[in-house]
Amino acid sequence: MTPFYITTSIAYVNGEPHIGFAMELLEADCLARYQRLLGNDVFFLTGTDEHGSKIIQTAEEQGLTVKELCDKNTAKFKELAKILKCTNDDFIRTSDQKRHWPAVQKIWRKLVEKGDIYKDKYEGLYCVGCEKFMTEKELMDGKCPHHDCEPEKIVEENYFFRLSKYSEKIGDLIRSRELAIVPEFRAKEILNIIEEGLKDVSFSRPRKSLNWGVPVPDDDSQIMYVWCDALTNYISALGYVDEAENFKKYWPNCTHVVGKDIVRFHAAIWIGMLLSAELPLPKNELVHGWINMKGERMSKSKGNTISPFELVENYGVDALRYYLLSEIPMGKDGDFTYERFEEKYSSDLVNNLGNLVHRITIMLDKYFKGEIKKTNSKFTREKVEGIWKRYHQEMENMILHNAASIAWELVDFGNKFIDEKKPWILAKEGKTDELAETLGILTELLAHISVMAQPFVPEVAEKIQNLLGIKLETFNSLQGAIKVGMKIKKGEPIYKKLN
Ligand code: MSP
Repeated sequence: MTPFYITTSIAYVNGEPHIGFAMELLEADCLARYQRLLGNDVFFLTGTDEHGSKIIQTAEEQGLTVKELCDKNTAKFKELAKILKCTNDDFIRTSDQKRHWPAVQKIWRKLVEKGDIYKDKYEGLYCVGCEKFMTEKELMDGKCPHHDCEPEKIVEENYFFRLSKYSEKIGDLIRSRELAIVPEFRAKEILNIIEEGLKDVSFSRPRKSLNWGVPVPDDDSQIMYVWCDALTNYISALGYVDEAENFKKYWPNCTHVVGKDIVRFHAAIWIGMLLSAELPLPKNELVHGWINMKGERMSKSKGNTISPFELVENYGVDALRYYLLSEIPMGKDGDFTYERFEEKYSSDLVNNLGNLVHRITIMLDKYFKGEIKKTNSKFTREKVEGIWKRYHQEMENMILHNAASIAWELVDFGNKFIDEKKPWILAKEGKTDELAETLGILTELLAHISVMAQPFVPEVAEKIQNLLGIKLETFNSLQGAIKVGMKIKKGEPIYKKLN
């Protein structure tokens, strides 16, 4: 079994999760599920980023202690992963002093040993929303374009990380795809930045300006920069501190899923840190765009968020998963609208997939009391072969919206096959043999759909398999799964129609 390690970024806990982060979680979950179906050994990590100035500010505004705020919102992120049916194996919190802090301090010491950390005076403009120093070039009319506010002027003594030393090497790694940034156009964007030459980054703040974070080893007056601390979550959770088995097995096989706004941290700073510490690098960084509301980024600071909890409550988990994984082209931005959400739910889930399952199980019940009398797996396999091939290609390339649309070609094929074969006419004309074979083929198709669509809509996949009375945990288990003599249950419609 090939190890496959997949991570989401870790979200700030200054607010409750919205559907932007839900999309990221789902992308990682979709890939984790796909890899498990291939039979690979998967480890899927998510978590929360609990340090930094933004968290302190929010706690003050809400009259909570920082710890109270972090506990309250982290519980919501854990709940989100659960209601979205995410299959994460672990959840890491940067406030975890036992698991996380020692790892961050260990990597810091490695950078020091390498001579890549030095102290200097810093004068800069800090955006608390981005948790980063901004260059004049990045500002629009003196304001941060993401948060529409003026950054704070800061003059202080900081430790710096010698990122500039690794600039060229990082560019080479991305160009040669040893570190694959997906989709390709996102790789080009980051390469443009790297080619200008990466500058050293401030890696700590004086404790008197920021008293919530991981202390710098051997200098209690300084707290680590939130990104140095946060990025290390990917290895702290695997047991980097004592080189645990999980660290050795999974870390060199890592895929990070991140938003376009934080590629710079993942493709530049993180890679620089790993090179300095002489650790293996991640293999892929899958970059998604933003979910917007009326063209503006949905964000906690803008207050224009849509709650994933409400959408799941009102439409079910598959509806939200399917929308977020199939509607917004991988890497690009997309607007959320209720009209489009409901349209996709009704057309692709209720009328297409839901209807197909209902039609097949009803006919089997009506004509054969639910029993499979005949199969033709060779015919079915030949029909679906091309679709499977294209599906695997898109999944391997992590272009999830394309893979979803290919999976739905299988659903379309099923509905068309019924319309062409017209089983009700075969029944009327007494063509029992052909009728039995048609329904056998359709049941085989259902089994294929339940596996192919599982990474996207796991709830219906499980329901289909329950109706068929089988459990298909890998792509290989599809082989010969539908047998003569099996009894198929007749189900209620699996998706509720909208009123
Ligand atoms: N804490 C940092 C990440 C540290 S990773 C070592 C952070 N947190 S965040 O809460 O601001 O964002 C978490 C993730 O959610 C990012 O990948 C970000 O791109 C994503 N999203 C936040 N808003 C989003 C949308 N409106 N749409 C899609 N994803 C967005 O950055």
